[in-house]
Amino acid sequence: MEGGIRESVKEFYTKVAMKPRKELCCPTSYSKEDVSHIPEEVMEVSYGCGSPVLSADIKEGEKVLDLGSGGGVDCFIAAKLVGRNGRVIGVDMTEEMLKKAENASSRVARNLGFSVVEFRKGFLEDIPLEDEAVDLVTSNCVINLSPDKPKVMEEIYRILKHGGRFCISDVVAEKDVPDDIRSDRELWGECIGGALKEDEFIDTAKKAGFYGLHVTSRYLYREVKGIRFYSITLKGYKFKKGAECVYIGQYAIYNGPFRSVQDDDGHEYPVGVPVEICTDTAEKLMKPPYRGFFTITDPTKGMEEAVPCTPGSDNTSSCC
Ligand SMILES: C[S@@+](CC[C@H](N)C(=O)[O-])C[C@H]1O[C@@H](n2cnc3c(N)ncnc32)[C@H](O)[C@@H]1O
Repeated sequence: MEGGIRESVKEFYTKVAMKPRKELCCPTSYSKEDVSHIPEEVMEVSYGCGSPVLSADIKEGEKVLDLGSGGGVDCFIAAKLVGRNGRVIGVDMTEEMLKKAENASSRVARNLGFSVVEFRKGFLEDIPLEDEAVDLVTSNCVINLSPDKPKVMEEIYRILKHGGRFCISDVVAEKDVPDDIRSDRELWGECIGGALKEDEFIDTAKKAGFYGLHVTSRYLYREVKGIRFYSITLKGYKFKKGAECVYIGQYAIYNGPFRSVQDDDGHEYPVGVPVEICTDTAEKLMKPPYRGFFTITDPTKGMEEAVPCTPGSDNTSSCC
């Protein structure tokens, strides 16, 4: 059913926007405080499978894109977190979903006391945004619905700024999904038929250019015909290599607890051993998700002055 997937998904979500299906709503329980500013009719069509926005370490003033925004629940939660100086854009292809989200928008703005959310009609595979436009991309139970997942990941990479990140919750399968499930339109709409295996999903992000990929949550979502489907939340980062990447005498010392680790560029870091690194690698290791795992020496001071870093520390100067 490759050719008709988009149309059939759109039809599915038009129906469930007009007539909410309670059993499709995810088991994610948002705290009252997170959603107190969001109208009930948005919550009724909250069809995600995680809470990527709450796991994304959103900072005030950030520009966020939510892909497959549906009734807008994640955009509205993000709005509260980015504050009046931030911006949130929701993209979805289904008009009925966009209508729901737009109808709720002014009430959310009134409740928050500011208006920073905008919805755009568009496809995951052709995002209606310019290159390097946002700090963060979130998506909640959407990418499994696309017939062209590599293209979606390439698009996410394109519209993220240098140093930007994604935080995506989605459904993955424990093994290859057989044809009888893949070709079932209802199961595809329910986020089952189009699911990749977890390693394939991560690999799609890796091939698009993302680094630092890691899963921050995993739980059993559903079991269908003897196959377990999990909801995972995956984070990944964009780094545009600088033309100016040089060796200036910086070393990275891996602090443990593993005996040795390898980064996305294939550099090996045995615990406690100084490894000479270029300026690009130093920049990466000083930021999430690596921050705190390495001690980076200051090239002007040398190894004697290296200060061990505290995991989670905000110090991005000479140390970590
Ligand atoms: C399972 S719902 C999730 C909605 C929302 N993220 C939430 O958590 O409530 C999937 C949404 O993705 C949208 N969608 C699916 N495939 C899409 C595509 N290729 N391009 C744009 N939107 C798409 C659907 O219209 C639907 O609103």
